[in-house]
Amino acid sequence: MCVTPVADPSLEQPALGIAFMDESHRALHGKLERLSSVADVEFAAAFEALLKEVHDHFKEEEQAMEEIAFRGISCHRDQHAQALNALQHACLRAREGTIAEGREIGGLFSQWLHFHIATMDRMLASVLQHAEASKADCAVD
Ligand SMILES: [Fe+2]
Repeated sequence: MCVTPVADPSLEQPALGIAFMDESHRALHGKLERLSSVADVEFAAAFEALLKEVHDHFKEEEQAMEEIAFRGISCHRDQHAQALNALQHACLRAREGTIAEGREIGGLFSQWLHFHIATMDRMLASVLQHAEASKADCAVD
């Protein structure tokens, strides 16, 4: 069975309130949408573009976690690493021509991303907002 990621407006997620995260998440959803409709001949290139976007986004979030010494960094980073591993493997397979498998992984990643944003990223965003507010308070004093 092939599961193809389909953009579903009912799955639209509320913004987290941290600009770099919200912008990145929008870009990722855009890449996933493109992946769901791209022709087989362009699939591997679209998957590689998604992989790069995901890699850069995870790195940016992890850097933000390090900057505020986020206590949940280990768990959050592990989730990123597992997702990235699955995508890297699927990317290699897509380059070899196993497009159906790549489409299925793309669909699963889309579901994973929605859940990850609603849980791990929401928690991180909340802590980042608190850290920004504390920094602003200190600047006033
Ligand atoms: Fe994350």
